[in-house]
Amino acid sequence: LLGELRVVDQVDSTNARVLECLESGSGHGLAILAEQQTAGRGRRGRAWLSPFGAGISLSVGWQFQGGVQLLEGLSLAVGVALARALERFDVPGVRLKWPNDVWCQGRKLAGVLLELSGDLTDRCAVVVGVGLNVGLAEAAARGIDQPWIDLATVRPGVARNELAAAMLDELLTLLNDYPRAGFAAYRSSWERLDQFAGQEVSLHTASTEWRGSNLGVDASGALLLDIDGEVRRFHGGEVSLRAS
Ligand code: BTN
Repeated sequence: LLGELRVVDQVDSTNARVLECLESGSGHGLAILAEQQTAGRGRRGRAWLSPFGAGISLSVGWQFQGGVQLLEGLSLAVGVALARALERFDVPGVRLKWPNDVWCQGRKLAGVLLELSGDLTDRCAVVVGVGLNVGLAEAAARGIDQPWIDLATVRPGVARNELAAAMLDELLTLLNDYPRAGFAAYRSSWERLDQFAGQEVSLHTASTEWRGSNLGVDASGALLLDIDGEVRRFHGGEVSLRAS
């Protein structure tokens, strides 16, 4: 499944490099793993901090024959794949925060950024980018605007290379199976891992703050909230969720 694995010391963004290859028609099955990113990208236009040796910065490129609807729910399924990789090393208490943050002890351990390329009707390509905190020193992490945790705190002694290999293995399996399996094969696992299952949550869209009770996700991966007795559906993208 793996076309090529490039391990680099420093790069602007592993996602940017894989995306560039996909856009020039190569990059299917390409994985880039970096010790440091100088311009790591986060969701919603944020920067992602990746100081030297402090984490795992990994991107995988994949091309699909078919339209972008094939990818529905993929970003949530990536969270499930990462949880499975972490569970191989007995990392305790791994949870997911919709749509795809990996949490541990109520704080963020890893983030996922999917970037698309291709015409999106007949062919689409995706970069799956994952950043996982392994040993983030307090000083280096100053400026992160959300509660974070690292692997060294929750499960010391995990070999970074072995975990990166397990993550890659889970991601390649997922990408290979996804056109056939779809989100249906991951939905119940996602719901079992949901950090906020059954809880009251608040959700911020560009214009509104919604509060409601978390009912889980639908078949497309949209979040379902019961707001004053009415079920509303929220899609990923420009929204953020928190406990209310
Ligand atoms: C988030 O905001 O939670 C998503 C963070 C994704 C960071 C990873 S690190 C590897 C890959 N390259 C990037 O530039 N971003 C992703």
